[in-house]
Amino acid sequence: MCFTYSTWWYLNNRWWKLSSLPTNWPIVGMLPELIRNLHCVHEKTTEVLIESNGTFEFHGPVFANFNILSIGLPHVPCEKAFNDTVDALLYRYILPECCWKLQKWLRIGREKKLIQAWEAFDQFLYPCISRKQEELMHKSTIKEEEFSFLNAFIKMYDQWKDGNLGTLQTFLRDTFLSLMLGGRDTTSAALTWFFALMAKNPLVEKKIREEIQQQLHLKEDENLNFFNIQETRKLVYLHAAFCETLRLFPSVAIEHKLPLEFDILPSGHRVSPNMRVMLSFYTMGRMESLWGKDCLEFKPERWISKRGEIKHEPSFKFTAFNAGPRACIGKEMAFTQMKIVAATIIHNYHIQVEDQIISPSSSVIIQVKHGLKVRLIKRVTLV
Ligand code: HEM
Repeated sequence: MCFTYSTWWYLNNRWWKLSSLPTNWPIVGMLPELIRNLHCVHEKTTEVLIESNGTFEFHGPVFANFNILSIGLPHVPCEKAFNDTVDALLYRYILPECCWKLQKWLRIGREKKLIQAWEAFDQFLYPCISRKQEELMHKSTIKEEEFSFLNAFIKMYDQWKDGNLGTLQTFLRDTFLSLMLGGRDTTSAALTWFFALMAKNPLVEKKIREEIQQQLHLKEDENLNFFNIQETRKLVYLHAAFCETLRLFPSVAIEHKLPLEFDILPSGHRVSPNMRVMLSFYTMGRMESLWGKDCLEFKPERWISKRGEIKHEPSFKFTAFNAGPRACIGKEMAFTQMKIVAATIIHNYHIQVEDQIISPSSSVIIQVKHGLKVRLIKRVTLV
């Protein structure tokens, strides 16, 4: 036993081993390597996937029928930076400010990852902004009415630069970063929960499919590619299903506020400046006092008025997009994107969710913990 382990250790740690790909041993396959790297499984997987151009076949022990073909996406440093940022957010919420500030100063733990994430964002965003600025400079004949995000923000900067906006480059970087951070995981998490809920509610899935066919004038076997914003507005039941998904699984699960002055909450609790008030949007979406006895049931119908339109719920009750002056500015965009993606998938495929425990991750943005494993069954022949 000892001899086998020493041989394996020696071979894996030999100084001339240049590859990070796991060794495929007789009988035990790549399992020893997996166990050895369990504490840093994501990093190791990334390393392996980079070296194998995004796809890697994992061989488990012969007795375990445990072979995995991992279809990885190419390693994008900015992508990893997003995950590290979201991860660090929860700790900033939980830890006292002095603790995470000390970590930041010492460049350790999640704060170290956050510093590295900033570097990755800078390396990605600054060249993108410069490229776009150059493009705009060369297009000397831009029509006045031609809209460009970059131009709109540059104009805004010129109007407000007497304030505390920093340089134009940092202002643009921060603006685009907040849009990317605000819209990335929130939308993908909502879509994932939507499909998880669809699997448990086949009747809802059927109604959505019927609505798509009726409203977009499609035949059952007709392929659906992309459709426009006007068409998404006709999909009322699908919209209701997303509201219901976000009520039960608001992508931003918790939020915190600091009062500027002494105040008394409606509950009678006194709050003072620098006292952190945590809001659980997750809990609010599940309160009987707000949503009725059936608050834990997934019922898109509760969002549809007698006239067949989306029922308005005040943002202080349906808090998935926050309420007040700092409410989400990407709400409409998110609904449009999610409806286009969901309608295209639901019309073309049946989604079968694999047998698994589906629970929310411990994070500020609630993802499905460990991801959602699904089987896509083609409904229409795609062209
Ligand atoms: C399902 C999708 C989305 C959900 C559930 C969502 C939710 C939220 C919530 C709760 C906030 C307040 C966060 C806070 O103050 O701590 C927020 C802010 C924000 N969201 Fe969204 N969001 C979504 C999609 C998007 C998209 C697609 C964009 C942009 C393209 C976006 C851009 C922003 C920005 C820039 C803010 C900050 C607004 C401010 O502080 O004034 N969001 N969002």
